[in-house]
Amino acid sequence: MASPSAGVKKCVTLPKSDHVPARYDGPCREEVLALRREYLTPALLTYYKEPLNIVEGHMQYLWDDTGRQYLDAFAGIVTVSVGHCHPKITERIREQVGKLCHTTTIYLHPNIGQYGKLLADHFPADSGLTCTYFTNSGSEANDMAILMSRLHTGNFEVISLRNGYHGGLQSSMGLTAHGTWKYPVPHSFGVKHAMPGYCYRCPLGLTYPACDMKCATGFEEMIAYETPGQVAAFIGEPIQGVGGVIDPPPEYFKIVYDIVRKHGGLCIADEVQTGFGRTGHHFWGFENWGVTPDMVTMAKGIGNGAALAACTTRKEIAEPLTQRIHFNTFGGNPVSMIQGLTTLQIIDDEGIQQNALKIGTRIKEGLLELQQKHQLIGEVRGKGLMLGIELVKDRAGKEPATAETVEIFERAKGKGLLIGKGGLYGNVLRIKPPMCLNADDADFLIASLDEAFSDVPKK
Ligand SMILES: Cc1ncc(COP(=O)(O)O)c(C=O)c1O
Repeated sequence: MASPSAGVKKCVTLPKSDHVPARYDGPCREEVLALRREYLTPALLTYYKEPLNIVEGHMQYLWDDTGRQYLDAFAGIVTVSVGHCHPKITERIREQVGKLCHTTTIYLHPNIGQYGKLLADHFPADSGLTCTYFTNSGSEANDMAILMSRLHTGNFEVISLRNGYHGGLQSSMGLTAHGTWKYPVPHSFGVKHAMPGYCYRCPLGLTYPACDMKCATGFEEMIAYETPGQVAAFIGEPIQGVGGVIDPPPEYFKIVYDIVRKHGGLCIADEVQTGFGRTGHHFWGFENWGVTPDMVTMAKGIGNGAALAACTTRKEIAEPLTQRIHFNTFGGNPVSMIQGLTTLQIIDDEGIQQNALKIGTRIKEGLLELQQKHQLIGEVRGKGLMLGIELVKDRAGKEPATAETVEIFERAKGKGLLIGKGGLYGNVLRIKPPMCLNADDADFLIASLDEAFSDVPKK
């Protein structure tokens, strides 16, 4: 029998980019850090014991102030979809900034309508999802979706999922049910939290499929007891991102959507992390589960790094928002619109979704091989280029290996590989690179993680 790791390629040398970074003569890491410490909120989060001073990016690579190249396998939390400073996007932004950088939608401009149409063309044909409100952040898009669902249904209560993340405004923190990401928010935000389909750590202590999908069918009882006749909406990430790349059993969302709709609520898919081809087989995360939402919220990868987000819904759901003036100063400005439009064209023209599937599959296979070799790996999850590795101290007890996760995360950086981490216990390594990654990058990623796992002292 072949050794479990026979397929892991020994490619620990970072593929060299043909891009030559400009000579950097700005402040060094220590100076930048000192400025941040003195003048910025202490609440700013930095990755790594010795935070990186990233000064240039090109496609899937980043460079620090010393000129060291890294493979970006986290894309600043999935914000960059088609590659850092993709030349076509950079060119069109330059052109637009040189012409008009106006901020408001009170005058007409072609970019917003053209982009709205192209976005609508990317939703399933019979979905009616054609009507978009552009914002600047995913939190705002979710706030907008909740507002519209309340206006449309006349109901107030919203159901979101435990372990989910929906943003940093007080309204989206109300939706968020992930302890370390939540500050106290008033109950008036009217949110109830239901069970996610997190089989590895089933919140009900059951095992799939013998569980009969109680996490999903439980919505019926929850609504009957807690919010009868008052549900405005259900919001859920098709794959929970910050929560640790949690993909539920295939039937989960269908059961939940049916129950919520039976009780008069709308269904919102938060596609901030899963949209735009990232999950590989499908353009939208929700398509993996055979459901069609009433509203879709998007951000991050939508604009390849722009402060751009959106909420798309059906016309009749958007209509009640005309009752008062609702206005977003920067939402839909010509610069972010051209950035979103060009990103979407590149996704179509350069086979980005197909690449997410191809390279994502290669990485996932490599991770599954690593799982056979390294006891710390409890589970490998995810789809396309949205992958997660949950680390446990022992596979039977599943005690979260949080300290080891940090060790591997740091050691990967030492090898030139930037990844993310998350999960309720901080024990999930997250892989969400720009979707232009190639096979050599994938092999480097697996080989570097293999080494990092091997290097971690056994505790
Ligand atoms: C699923 C999801 N929704 C919403 C948000 C909030 O987006 P933003 O930080 O742009 O407000 C995030 C951010 O990480 C997210 O992952």
